[in-house]
Amino acid sequence: MQMQLLLMLTLFTLQLQAIPTPCKTSCGNIPINYPFGLEDGCGAPQFRHMLNCSTDLFFQTPSGAYKVESIDYGKKTMTIYDPSMSTCSILQPHHDFQMTDIQSAIIPPSQDTVFVLLNCSIDSPVLNHYKYLCFNFAGHTCDELYGACNAFRVFHLLTNSSPPCCFTSYGTVKFMSMNILDCTHYTSVLNTDNLKGVGPLDWVYGIKLSFSVPDTGCESCKRSGGTCGFDTDTEGLLCLCSSFANSTRACAAGNMISKGQKNVPWTHYLLVLLVVAYFHTRVRLL
Ligand SMILES: *[C@@H]1O[C@H](CO)[C@@H](O)[C@H](O)[C@H]1NC(C)=O
Ligand SMILES: *[C@@H]1O[C@H](CO)[C@@H](O)[C@H](O)[C@H]1NC(C)=O
Ligand SMILES: *[C@@H]1O[C@H](CO)[C@@H](O)[C@H](O)[C@H]1NC(C)=O
Repeated sequence: MQMQLLLMLTLFTLQLQAIPTPCKTSCGNIPINYPFGLEDGCGAPQFRHMLNCSTDLFFQTPSGAYKVESIDYGKKTMTIYDPSMSTCSILQPHHDFQMTDIQSAIIPPSQDTVFVLLNCSIDSPVLNHYKYLCFNFAGHTCDELYGACNAFRVFHLLTNSSPPCCFTSYGTVKFMSMNILDCTHYTSVLNTDNLKGVGPLDWVYGIKLSFSVPDTGCESCKRSGGTCGFDTDTEGLLCLCSSFANSTRACAAGNMISKGQKNVPWTHYLLVLLVVAYFHTRVRLL
């Protein structure tokens, strides 16, 4: 009798501990941790509505939904891929890459992501007034790109000369649309720190974003076994302890049920009942 009760007690305690928070922790094989969240109310409010796990994980910006290839929580980077972007092997009509102001501030493209504007007209601002926005990219030239890449060969086949290109940073694309830039195509390359002498065929195409994690005391929530989230109405921070309990800073010590919550779950009552029954039996047996 005692053993049975003890066993049941243990099982119930385990079950309570295993009650998940309402936040998904992965999408496919990509882990979703703070500051990101898939459900509204999970993660940091600044990153609200940015991710979407439909078929794959997508990063949503005003210019489209970009497939997330990976998230590196140690280096605080996220690599995304624009399926309609041109690369060395495929030429596609340009469309602008746009982010919201908040995104530009908290998750902008990394320093080692270079945007390459291709087939620019000689009237392009980046060849004239804003020439200084183009930089020398590890000694690489337009000719090299137009020569090495199947996709870009068409640019100098038609004119028999090399139309200008420009290696630049996200800031240029942010402030000038492709129409203003007067270049017909663009591509972007990541991990550009060690590309001296490496040909365009071996570059990695895509966009690496570099995110900052808001310093909001999420650590104490995590240490207490909770998941950081926020109130969807006020965007005030919440520590999500279980499907039943939220707390402002941290989950109560010892178990996942926080103190002072409004809705005490039925399992809690059951646990108390079991403890009472257990001691009752023990007293009777002694
Ligand atoms: C989710 O991602 C898909 C891309 O497959 C996109 O078409 C859709 O608009 C996104 N939905 C939301 C709510 O952001
Ligand atoms: C390159 O740019 C010129 C205009 O500057 C345009 O007429 C031409 O179609 C472009 N080439 C390709 C392959 O899009
Ligand atoms: C806890 O917070 C989340 C996110 O705001 C909300 O969806 C959920 O209903 C809350 N749960 C309780 C028990 O208050």
